[in-house]
Amino acid sequence: AVQGLKDYYKDYFPIGVAVAPRSLQGDQAELILQQFNSLTPENAMKMGPIHPEPDRYFWDDADAIVQFAQEHGLKVRGHNLCWHEQTPPWLFTDAQGDTVTKEVLLQRLKDHIDAVVTRYKGKIYAWDVVNEAIADDSTQLLRNSAWYQICGEEFITKAFEWAHEADPDAQLYYNDYNTERPEKRERIYQLLKKLVDAGVPIHGVGLQGHWSIYEPTAAELRTAIERFSSLGLDVQVTELDVSVYPWEKFRRPLREGESDAFTAEREQQQLEQYKQVFAIFREHKDVLTSVTFWNISDRYSWLDHYPVEGRKNYPLLFDENLKPKKAYWEVVKF
Ligand code: G3I
Repeated sequence: AVQGLKDYYKDYFPIGVAVAPRSLQGDQAELILQQFNSLTPENAMKMGPIHPEPDRYFWDDADAIVQFAQEHGLKVRGHNLCWHEQTPPWLFTDAQGDTVTKEVLLQRLKDHIDAVVTRYKGKIYAWDVVNEAIADDSTQLLRNSAWYQICGEEFITKAFEWAHEADPDAQLYYNDYNTERPEKRERIYQLLKKLVDAGVPIHGVGLQGHWSIYEPTAAELRTAIERFSSLGLDVQVTELDVSVYPWEKFRRPLREGESDAFTAEREQQQLEQYKQVFAIFREHKDVLTSVTFWNISDRYSWLDHYPVEGRKNYPLLFDENLKPKKAYWEVVKF
């Protein structure tokens, strides 16, 4: 049989991929089963999609992904229970359209976590409980989201406690991006340390891994893994991709003369970055317990729509025809 990423990495960690139900068929399903042994629903378990009305859940998409995983013996990471994006329209207001109180919002969060975690109890081994709660700039610790404005810091602790009550065997993660940038890394560390010191049931930290051919550096990545794991937490890379564009400098449409082609130069830079980050993952296999890619192949990536709509990106290890790229062969050569 053909060896896949999951086979090359069997003595290291599971290799996952983010999926939508529509990708669980045809050539994409074949590739998933050949290469990966863990799934994350890209959108299907987020509060907006799965809990569209106060008294109505929409389970079909999430169920389909969990069922596919069970049929084929793949693990599932749950994503996510509490986030400021993709929230349902009813969440923060009452019937009159007024902002709800902290008590009401926390009760809604508890009911939501109870329902979702209980439904998949024993089928989801790890949950991203709180996603992206740390601020992007350093004027304050927490993001100024509706969650924070209404509840203060408490929603974070509560989310972990309620998830733990609903499934005591599930591993509970705090998940975020730009976790290797020193300032944000230290703010995340501060939050995690508070939670760990207070005995909150948190087991790990998810480094999303939305990286590029320019960052993170090897030193930044090593420091982040070592700093977070020094708290006794596991580390997982939860949303890996390597954009072929620089993040900050390229948040604009292409200018005349600029190309979005996957040039030989970009291909080489991407290959080096993938090679480097996987070498560092392997060095840390005692604390680094999973690596998940955010999308299957360059046929479709969320980065085709973000930060610039319609600018094609090539961030993954498989090309648009689902064939392994040069970077793939670097990742499996060790
Ligand atoms: O489902 C609707 C569809 O009915 C509608 O016609 C269409 C029109 O815009 O939108 C569809 O929803 C889109 C959804 O993806 C499903 O495709 C949303 O607009 C779009 O915003 C949403 O984007 C997702 C994004 O999270 C939401 O912020 C991306 O697919 C998903 O890859 C991305 O994933 C996040 C992680 O959860 C957290 N970390 C960052 C990561 C990348 O942003």
